[in-house]
Amino acid sequence: MMQMRGKFITFEGIDGAGKSSHIAGVCSFLAARGIAVVSTREPGGTPLGEKLRELLLNEPMHLETEALLMFAARREHLDQVIEPALARGDWVVCDRFTDATYAYQHGGRGLDRNKFADLERWVHGHLQPDLTLLFDLPFAVARERIALQTRELDRFEQERADFHERVRQAYLERAAAASQRIHVIDANQPLQNIKKLVEDAVASICK
Ligand code: TMP
Repeated sequence: MMQMRGKFITFEGIDGAGKSSHIAGVCSFLAARGIAVVSTREPGGTPLGEKLRELLLNEPMHLETEALLMFAARREHLDQVIEPALARGDWVVCDRFTDATYAYQHGGRGLDRNKFADLERWVHGHLQPDLTLLFDLPFAVARERIALQTRELDRFEQERADFHERVRQAYLERAAAASQRIHVIDANQPLQNIKKLVEDAVASICK
């Protein structure tokens, strides 16, 4: 019998949107339904990708270098982790994917989005997430969460409020253009409400 392809779920949102705590929840939700899940993240997810992440988060670089390294890490991630998992029937839950490049490198940094359309076609023209959960909230609220971090903030977290607001707007524009795939979750409400919205969205693709 041919193996059914797994599904690909991504989580997105501005820094401090609180998506991370829900990723583990979705993995348990799927595991409880007998679905094998691979939980991963971008930039990162492979030994090379994690090295690129370290550079991307901490090393000053040209904006276009940043965008290209995001796609380089993604190319490796697709080849080493995402594609093999989906092919063997596992589901993949990924903390950020290409929507983040549009939001941060186009919305935040101001690079032309058409450049990303070409890179997107090159790197994963054949593959898009089956479902994307976009955690949306005003940056003023997210900032309070970032301020609780005890570690040193990375290059993105250190950006000014207007950068994060542009990232947020770019995410919302992308969600409006792909409303079938991207579910916007109001992340400025109690955890239990968010959990329910997330599980309902995931359940809708479990059939
Ligand atoms: P994280 O803090 O959610 O793990 O993400 C790391 C940072 O990388 C986050 O601030 C967003 C940024 N990022 C981009 O700028 N472009 C991308 O394509 C990805 C995947 C992440």
